Amino acid sequence: MTGRFITFEGIEGAGKTTQIHRLADSLRGREKSVCVVREPGGTPAGERLREVLLKDTVLAGLVLPETEFFLFCACRSELVRSVIRPALESGKVVLCDRFTDSTLAYQGYGRGLDLDRLQESIDFSTGGLVPDATIYLDIPIETSRGRGRGDEFDDAFFRRVEMGFHELAEAEPKRIRVVNGRGDKEEVAAKVLEELEPAVFERA
Ligand code: TYD
Repeated sequence: MTGRFITFEGIEGAGKTTQIHRLADSLRGREKSVCVVREPGGTPAGERLREVLLKDTVLAGLVLPETEFFLFCACRSELVRSVIRPALESGKVVLCDRFTDSTLAYQGYGRGLDLDRLQESIDFSTGGLVPDATIYLDIPIETSRGRGRGDEFDDAFFRRVEMGFHELAEAEPKRIRVVNGRGDKEEVAAKVLEELEPAVFERA
């Protein structure tokens, strides 16, 4: 594959969406062909599953944590095979808003599902696709709440998710780059670009 696969992770309100669009603009300005996708969603079936996932929630008692996990995997299976892989094969830089690290952080650390067992199904859902680089936009949950996000989560759950992301980043420091998400948008964007230069512009 000639393209590059970059994912963005972070808790609610970390600024992923803003930063992805800024990065897309700067890469396009440097002659890169860019494809932006988000999880869950991004395909016809994936968008329908997204509606189920965001409405029939575990918190409302409408789905079980295991079911929620498989729905996220189902969305991802569609997105990887019908959008991400073809884009990578045609040489694009694919920027994805959340990917497998979110599943480990929310369903694994957050809901307490067994991480090793989740990893097996995650690998099956992605067909083994791993990001070339991941930006973790780091903000504490207080900042997330201050930005009016994450209201649906209680503190204990949210802390486990946040801690999960940190553990994942510590376990894979080469792939997962931690960027402080609290600075102003320009500064964060510059840091994101700096962290991604090698992954996007250097030959594999
Ligand atoms: P979304 O509205 O896209 O939130 P955000 O803008 O913060 O990304 O909702 C996605 C929600 O789904 C978010 O709360 C994180 C959660 N999620 C999981 O629990 N597991 C996953 O595998 C993914 C991709 C998302």
